Amino acid sequence: MAREDGAAVNARDRLVSATDEPDEKQLESALRPANLDEFVGQKRVRQQLSLVLEASRLRGRSADHVLLSGPPGLGKTTLAMIIAEEMGAPLRISSGPAIQHAGDLAAILSSLTEGEVLFLDEIHRMSRPAEEMLYMAMEDFRVDIVVGKGAGATSIPLDLPPFTLVGATTRAGLLPGPLRDRFGFTGHLEFYSVEELELVLRRSAGLMDLAMTAEGFAEVASRSRGTPRIANRLLRRVRDWALVHGVERIDARAASTALDMYEVDARGLDRLDRSVLTALVTKFNGGPVGLSTLAIAVGEETETVETVAEPYLVREGLLGRTPRGRIAMAAAWEHLGLPAPEHAAYRDPALRAALGGPDEDDATLFED
Ligand SMILES: Nc1ncnc2c1ncn2[C@@H]1O[C@H](COP(=O)(O)OP(=O)(O)OP(=O)(O)O)[C@@H](O)[C@H]1O
Ligand SMILES: [Mg+2]
Repeated sequence: MAREDGAAVNARDRLVSATDEPDEKQLESALRPANLDEFVGQKRVRQQLSLVLEASRLRGRSADHVLLSGPPGLGKTTLAMIIAEEMGAPLRISSGPAIQHAGDLAAILSSLTEGEVLFLDEIHRMSRPAEEMLYMAMEDFRVDIVVGKGAGATSIPLDLPPFTLVGATTRAGLLPGPLRDRFGFTGHLEFYSVEELELVLRRSAGLMDLAMTAEGFAEVASRSRGTPRIANRLLRRVRDWALVHGVERIDARAASTALDMYEVDARGLDRLDRSVLTALVTKFNGGPVGLSTLAIAVGEETETVETVAEPYLVREGLLGRTPRGRIAMAAAWEHLGLPAPEHAAYRDPALRAALGGPDEDDATLFED
């Protein structure tokens, strides 16, 4: 499956990967906002969610089930924790891949206490039988536990206390309709603006006791690919650099020198992204060129180029996908400081018309 493969590729230590590194969990939890007021950006989701929670508090009931979707590192887990915190309820955490049998889910559900918040991460990866059990639990707060096998099997109905399910997914398109419909509220998280990331960074720097200028924050924010997880990771690298170089107050120059050293450029591209872009522009005159040829030119697996580098390049309008191959967009030449030739592919109206936009259900879209 694309997801596993994408994850495997991301496992190479990549500073601008949006997925979390194994040893990063603890560092992250230290920086997680604890309530909705501290949660930066995502204004619409925040407002809607705060209404849902407030209403359920007024009614004295557990909140509606909440589905959070969006690319990695934008705050789904953080929001799930905030929901429990704001409801003053205990939080139980599990994930789709951990629930392979209906029995796994039954064990969790039957031990929930009243009002508890159950967070199911990567809910799109749950098994079918577990999913069907979840439908009934969400709707009627009831499960049927099957005892025995074959002809002698009986199902024992079990009532559950009211609970709030918070599901998170990077791939909303993969959720079956019946599951999606059972959530009372769906929040889709968007990439953050540079200004919002500056606020995330200010908060993190405060917690890390780092002195930094406004321009310093702006510099790190603009290289963070719209993602708080990446912003916080880059901030830690800048802090290391400042410590080693005896810099007490980090300004824009210090931040950019540090991040240049880590090969994260002004738009947040790393070495792989840049080599793909440079090859496309210099070796293939801006395309169109087939994906596999492009991959050979940069000495990478086709899949690495497609799942690791391309999604962000497409999102940034630097690279275009057409039926005839990959093309460099105007911004690519500009970013590399090169003039685009008269006959550059992106100027061809036919190719422009055939540009495939980022597609909601594209298996690779959220894997950058
Ligand atoms: N709105 C925000 N304000 C401040 N910090 C944030 C915000 N959103 C995310 N972060 C920070 O970014 C990090 C990653 O967030 P989180 O783990 O919630 O992402 P996620 O959407 O669950 O990612 P994944 O899909 O990989 O599970 C956390 O350490 C958190 O502190
Ligand atoms: Mg998460």
